[in-house]
Amino acid sequence: MAATVSDILLGWYDRHARELPWRAPPGAPPTDPYRVWLSEVMLQQTTVAAVKPYFTAFTTRWPDVAALAAAPEEEVMAAWAGLGYYSRARNLVKAAREVAARGGFPDTEAALRALPGLGDYTAAAVAAIAFGRRAVVVDANVERVVARLFAIDAPLPAARKAIREKADTITPDERAGDFAQAMMDLGATICTPREPRCLLCPLSETCEGRRRGEPTRFPVKPAKKAKPQRRGTAFWIERAGSVWLVRRERKGMLAGMRALPDDGWTARADGTGAAPLDGTWTDLGAVRHGFTHADLELAVRRIETASPPPGEGEWWPIKNLEDAGLPTLFAKAARLALA
Ligand code: ADE
Repeated sequence: MAATVSDILLGWYDRHARELPWRAPPGAPPTDPYRVWLSEVMLQQTTVAAVKPYFTAFTTRWPDVAALAAAPEEEVMAAWAGLGYYSRARNLVKAAREVAARGGFPDTEAALRALPGLGDYTAAAVAAIAFGRRAVVVDANVERVVARLFAIDAPLPAARKAIREKADTITPDERAGDFAQAMMDLGATICTPREPRCLLCPLSETCEGRRRGEPTRFPVKPAKKAKPQRRGTAFWIERAGSVWLVRRERKGMLAGMRALPDDGWTARADGTGAAPLDGTWTDLGAVRHGFTHADLELAVRRIETASPPPGEGEWWPIKNLEDAGLPTLFAKAARLALA
């Protein structure tokens, strides 16, 4: 059984692998570890479609790990704006500097795991894809495929241990990188969350979830906790074609990113509503944004003023606002202010 699943899947991958900018064709020698690492960090929590333009922009601007290591952190953060989960960008710079200092990427899963921002998944993925090491690579797509293939009845997250063990049993010694990417492609294109295309699936004959007639029951989800709904306010302060921008604190939501001033909302608490300036504010409505641990409704208020608010910040020309690197929440607020 073990050999069969990987043989079938690799044969399918040889015919159906997606062409992606960071990927070597099936069976080809691994590509540059820098590109593999960068793409895997970007792909954590983010879709292939969303990552592609960022990957191209990053590799054009910083073509190798030494170039990225030499970049100022704020520039990398700004280039990351819109991808979300900004601690990834900070760790990216840290890891690039460590790798540049040691003269190249480590080539084992354990040594990769020690770099900033490389969790179990990313270390395994880079070891397999960039260095051809046998590693058990389990992301959300792989988790779904394996849970269905073996009809794993335990609910997530407890099922993860069993899923990993089963994934280990089907991972081949050779072409582990292609195998991992084949599992991901299968999950993304065939074994999809809601309507799997079992008729096209190369593994349908061996799939226990399908044999039971209900593949979408797997992986079994935990009972869902309601996300808290938070409220906050952002302030659009304008003077002669410029808007006042601040840099957020180094801790907390959207840490270190450029932003509009706000009223101190967090994932745990609503904002105070207090404006940074006295004067006549206009209510512009609100934008909504979903974070991992809370949904936020952010009211946007506007004022025109001659004097800067207290505290640090900068007047940013509105016509260049695209270059400010605002995270998506504040880009939405800016769009509302400029509508
Ligand atoms: N998702 C995360 N890494 C991936 C990869 N290398 N190929 C396709 N999808 C992915």
